[in-house]
Amino acid sequence: MSGPVWERRLDVSTAAQTHALGAALGAVLEAGDLLVLTGELGAGKTTFTQGLGEGLGVRAGIISPTFVLVRIHPNLPAGPRPGGPDLVHVDAYRLESAAEIDDIDLENTMDTAVTVVEWGRARVEHLSDSRLEVELHRTRGGAGDTPDAGPAATVVDAAAPVLDFDTDDDDEPRTVVIRGFGPRWAEPPALPGIDSSGTGEPETALPETTPQPPERNA
Ligand SMILES: Nc1ncnc2c1ncn2[C@@H]1O[C@H](COP(=O)(O)OP(=O)(O)OP(=O)(O)O)[C@@H](O)[C@H]1O
Ligand SMILES: [Mg+2]
Repeated sequence: MSGPVWERRLDVSTAAQTHALGAALGAVLEAGDLLVLTGELGAGKTTFTQGLGEGLGVRAGIISPTFVLVRIHPNLPAGPRPGGPDLVHVDAYRLESAAEIDDIDLENTMDTAVTVVEWGRARVEHLSDSRLEVELHRTRGGAGDTPDAGPAATVVDAAAPVLDFDTDDDDEPRTVVIRGFGPRWAEPPALPGIDSSGTGEPETALPETTPQPPERNA
């Protein structure tokens, strides 16, 4: 398994923007795609996944699957992508290894679904030769602070070109880092409504010598 081929950083300041970023990505994902979500408790992984579900046009009701490890959200014939992929939403928080992941048979649904795994790092990489990693960081305060790596683009919801979200006391800034791995993600996805608003470099191509994670498939 090789390292990432590119990395993109985006700043979001509200939960609605995290949702909008998920929706933009959900509009372009295909069956077979694997997403690995990382971020501390409450970082916004489920909020992002709810946006993904909207962009994919799958049945609503995405929640943190605390007691149910896997939920399948079927694609809606009346949604924005009729006939498109289903969404398989996994919470791997309580799963300790790739072997435990294998017990839940994600292979059965991968071909017809986008598979999104919260807490999936170091647990699901063996399921596909390509994946997107999505990291959510609290942007200020505490140990979850964003590592410093240059300018990030700013997410603007295409439906709300003037940022006019209700100012919710709960809203806090987040930095979202997206990394592409494998042949499926040789190029970063174009994200309508988000790319056009970038203030920095849209993505960073990573050198071939990027440090590689340990091989999992031994
Ligand atoms: N910029 C933001 N992006 C995402 N969520 C935000 C943001 N600002 C505030 N929030 C709030 O943070 C909370 C994120 O909760 P969410 O369930 O999405 O996190 P999670 O990463 O899935 O947590 P868990 O690890 O418990 O599953 C929500 O209540 C959301 O409204
Ligand atoms: Mg969650």
